[in-house]
Amino acid sequence: PTRKMPPSASAVDFFQLLVPDNVLKSMVVQTNMYARKFQERFGSDGSWVEVTLAEMKAFLGYVMSTSVSHCESVLSIWSSGFYSNRSLALVMSQARFEKILKYFHVVAFRSSQSTHGLYKVQPFLDSLQSSFDAAFRPSQTQVLHEPLIDEDPVFIATCTERELRKRKKRKFSLWVRQCSSTGFIIQIYVHLKEGGGPDSLDALKDKPQLHGMVARSLCRNAAGKNYIIFTGPSITSLTLFEEFEKQGIYCCGLLSARKSDCTGLPPSMLTNPVTPQARGQHQIRTKGNMSLICWYNKGHFRFLTNAYSPVQQGVIIKRRSVEIPCPLAVEAFAAHLSYICRYDDKYSKYFISHKPNKTWQQVFWFAISIAVNNAYILYKMSDAYHVKRYSRAQFGERLVRELLGLEDSSPAH
Ligand SMILES: *[C@@H]1O[C@H](CO)[C@@H](O)[C@H](O)[C@H]1NC(C)=O
Ligand SMILES: *[C@@H]1O[C@H](CO)[C@@H](O)[C@H](O)[C@H]1NC(C)=O
Ligand SMILES: *[C@@H]1O[C@H](CO)[C@@H](O)[C@H](O)[C@H]1NC(C)=O
Repeated sequence: PTRKMPPSASAVDFFQLLVPDNVLKSMVVQTNMYARKFQERFGSDGSWVEVTLAEMKAFLGYVMSTSVSHCESVLSIWSSGFYSNRSLALVMSQARFEKILKYFHVVAFRSSQSTHGLYKVQPFLDSLQSSFDAAFRPSQTQVLHEPLIDEDPVFIATCTERELRKRKKRKFSLWVRQCSSTGFIIQIYVHLKEGGGPDSLDALKDKPQLHGMVARSLCRNAAGKNYIIFTGPSITSLTLFEEFEKQGIYCCGLLSARKSDCTGLPPSMLTNPVTPQARGQHQIRTKGNMSLICWYNKGHFRFLTNAYSPVQQGVIIKRRSVEIPCPLAVEAFAAHLSYICRYDDKYSKYFISHKPNKTWQQVFWFAISIAVNNAYILYKMSDAYHVKRYSRAQFGERLVRELLGLEDSSPAH
């Protein structure tokens, strides 16, 4: 973290490092503008009064509470059912919440230049990016990947197959660059799927190209910082790694003859040898700083890297402390990826479950979920953590209550 927070800092203080009041105030202005425009066109709404900053915070708090309760409908808070929550329900009436939900906007009007499909949420994504950059300096090692975001454990367990089929497919994919020693998400990239028709545009053939573009976007701010970026098979390619090397970005990626763009790589290294091999054996071909490693461990695994010397030895430790020798690049890849997988398992449980129909709103709530996870990571690295030691779930509950004004959030203020 770039900023030292006092031991008394509250959950909302950490969240507001990433989503400060000026961003929330802009949501207030845009929502009120949209409500006005909507009523000019469709007739006035007598029960509408302009939303305030305090209400906007409560509104976000309500929606965020679904990340802890795992209930898909925020409105259950006001119900008499299992997910009802009287202490939360008393802060705002359901009718008022639904009005704000109806008019909620980050961008009220389309400007003449906006051709981008995400124009309704882009200014928010941009402000989030600059606050991520300002709040945190990532470690040298980072991972590019598509995080798990559709995990709704409770929903999946309780709904029928028909309900599952009815769920619409997301019209976008979300990619991130993530710090592999803390889990902090440094950069977000949203890719809109075109048309939404058959998957033809996202066909396997075009995937490496698409993923190359995703990788370039995610590394726009990474040049010259000596970072080491780990990538999966769909991103790993010689062309991309050479391009990154010119910008001072080094890579280590898993390569698959089927899923990767193998342009420029020696074909002899991409086919499996017929002679049986021992576990831990490997072959290497190098060109300049780039090495292609083929390592055998009950299957052939290929790696492309310019971040590790191919002659440096590492080791993979299996259960019952069986050690399998490997090049250092393979050990590093396994260590960083397994950290991110464990992180994903833990944190994807705390994505907001409220699912609006509009794509820009889905993107907005995913981005808010990522901001809350990042806020928790900043909290865990601060002195404030040593005071209360909130778990991720407790931090989420606390944040909801503070946003709703149910807790004295900042004694320091
Ligand atoms: C290998 O990397 C070093 C350090 O970044 C660089 O100076 C050099 O030009 C690279 N060599 C080749 C052949 O690309
Ligand atoms: C979302 O779509 C469903 C059906 O497609 C509809 O019943 C529901 O009212 C919509 N929700 C909102 C908030 O527009
Ligand atoms: C109501 O929600 C808050 C915030 O998420 C939580 O701390 C509290 O335990 C909930 N109460 C009940 C009765 O579920």
